[in-house]
Parts: sequence; C-alpha cells; structure tokens
Amino acid sequence: MKKILGITAGRPNGNSEVLLKEALLACQEAGADVTMINLRNYEVLDCTGCTVCTQNMSQGKDKGCILKNKDDKDKLMKVVLDADAIICSVPTYDLMACSVFSRFAQRSISYETAFLESIGAIEHKDRVAALIAVGGSTRTWQSMALESMQAAMFMTSFQVIDMYLATRVPAPAQCLLDDDMMQRVRKLGENIMTSVNTPAEERKWLGEEDMGWCPNCHSNALVLGEDQWDGIFYPVECQVCGAGGTLEKTEDGKWKFVIQENGLLKDRTTVAGRETHVEEIKQTQGAFFADPERRKIVSERLKKYKELKFKTIE
Ligand SMILES: Cc1cc2nc3c(=O)[nH]c(=O)nc-3n(C[C@H](O)[C@H](O)[C@H](O)COP(=O)(O)O)c2cc1C
Repeated sequence: MKKILGITAGRPNGNSEVLLKEALLACQEAGADVTMINLRNYEVLDCTGCTVCTQNMSQGKDKGCILKNKDDKDKLMKVVLDADAIICSVPTYDLMACSVFSRFAQRSISYETAFLESIGAIEHKDRVAALIAVGGSTRTWQSMALESMQAAMFMTSFQVIDMYLATRVPAPAQCLLDDDMMQRVRKLGENIMTSVNTPAEERKWLGEEDMGWCPNCHSNALVLGEDQWDGIFYPVECQVCGAGGTLEKTEDGKWKFVIQENGLLKDRTTVAGRETHVEEIKQTQGAFFADPERRKIVSERLKKYKELKFKTIE
C-alpha cells in the first residue's frame, strides 16, 4: 500500500485544505494509505541560524539539528520521509508560500539527503511530490508561490511531478465554485498515484507539458547568471533548479529558455547536483572554521560592531 501524505498550512476548511482533500480522495480511491496534516496544528520552531548542522556537514559529520526533540519537526519528518509521496497545498502570502510552510521547510537542512547519503547515514529513497499554491489573485500576485514550494522539495529528494496554481480564490473554500479547479486537483492526486506506481527511473513530469520557463523543473522563474564560487557562469539560470543556459527566439517569435550542454551540472533537484553545493559549503564555511588566522581577524574586527549600540524598540 502506497503511503501518501497531504501537507497544508491554510485556514481550517479553507481553499488549501479543500483542494488538498480532493486530491487525497483520488489517492485513497486508488488504494493509498492517506495521512493529512495542517502545519498550523503543530509547533515548529524557527531555524536559529546556528549552522551547527552545516558546520558538521563540512567535516563529514551528521549531528542533526540543535532543536531536535524541542518541537514537532522531527516527529513530522519521520512521517514525511517514510511517505512514498507528498502533496503540499499552501496559501500564497506576499507572492510566495506562507511562512508557516517555509518555517517548516527551512528546518530541513539537517535532513539533507544528498549529504546523509554521501556519508552512508541513510539509504537512498525515491520520493515524489505534487504542489498546489493557492491565492486570491492571478499568477502576477503569486509570482514566487510554486517556486518557493519547489525550493522546499529538493532538500529531501522529493521529485516534483505535478504543480497547480489555484488562482482567484480569496474567500474561504471559494474553490468549491470552480469545477475545473476541483477536477484539476483530483487529476493531480491521480498523477501522484500514477507516479508512485511507476518504477522510479521511469517517473516523469505529469503536469502540463509546457508549464513554466524551465524545461528541467517547470519553474516559471529565471535570473541573470553571475560567476559562481567555482568559476562556472551561465548567462541565464533557473531560479529553482539552477539549470543554466540562455534565452533563444523561436520561429514563431516567442522566447524560450534553452539549457546549455553543461547546464545541469548543479541541478538542485538531483542528489549529484546538490553534492556540488555540499562541496561549496565545505570550501567556504568549512575552510573558514578550519583557518585560525581568518577567524582571529574576524573576531578582532567584530569587537567594534559588538560594542556599537543603536537605540532600539522596547
Ligand atoms: C497575509 C496575507 C497575504 C496574502 N498575499 C497574497 C498574495 O500575495 N497573492 C495572492 O494571490 N493572495 C494573497 N493572499 C490571499 C490568500 O492566498 C487567499 O485568501 C487564499 O485563499 C488563502 O488560502 P486558505 O483559504 O487555504 O487559507 C494573502 C492573504 C493573506 C492573509
């Protein structure tokens, strides 16, 4: 029996919950063991930024998160990582996934599967995900919604096989007036079941074929490239997966993003691609902590800023 976990962070009985339930119904009807959580019902502390997890990674060690067992994150992660697939349905706040979801996601660094696999701490597991971003407006006011959710997937090796942007549903459960929307999320649930029942190496994108700019991850967001830490440069990069290439004009006068030959070297959706980032962390953060001379300079220069106090708000 395939285990499917639904994750939401919306209002109780709001659009995100209703859309998620419709997608999960399709999974249940196809024989899946379905679990659903609303992140608002759990305590998940903010990442403190202590970087103990990445400092240990730099030295090839897994010491986990200093907040482990101080909140519900680890309990939830055990279920997330045990699932064959997750479906996330999340409200858009200020153009991107709401903070309840991103707070949960940003605590996942210590579960980095590329790192944990590289040191033999965990076995590789192929997992899939589908994403629903829900907003009151159209794409223009949800410009980073799906992309910010995609960014939360690769840390724990969830391959995104479908995404849907639910637009123009500001009022609670307003999605129930839109039959096409309800059908589309049911299809998303069916796609998840198709995917988990397909051998991992044959799984592919099941959403709209032409969705987004990026032919690799289907994000709709590109950035101008800059020199990277190891000298790699791409004129244009996908904001989500890091694919590199350039824009080309098609015969019908439209623009398309074309990934260059070495453009997937650092594809963040793959373990191999993310390992290059683990290497970057080793060379930048790891090298800093291993160098007493540089640490001494920082500590001396920091005195001025530690002593400097501006008035604050009581
Ligand atoms: C603080 C806040 C910020 C919001 N920002 C956006 C936004 O940037 N774009 C958008 O399309 N909708 C925005 N909305 C509307 C919600 O996304 C919309 O009401 C959605 O249906 C909420 O999902 P829910 O019913 O699952 O809670 C915002 C709502 C709130 C409360």
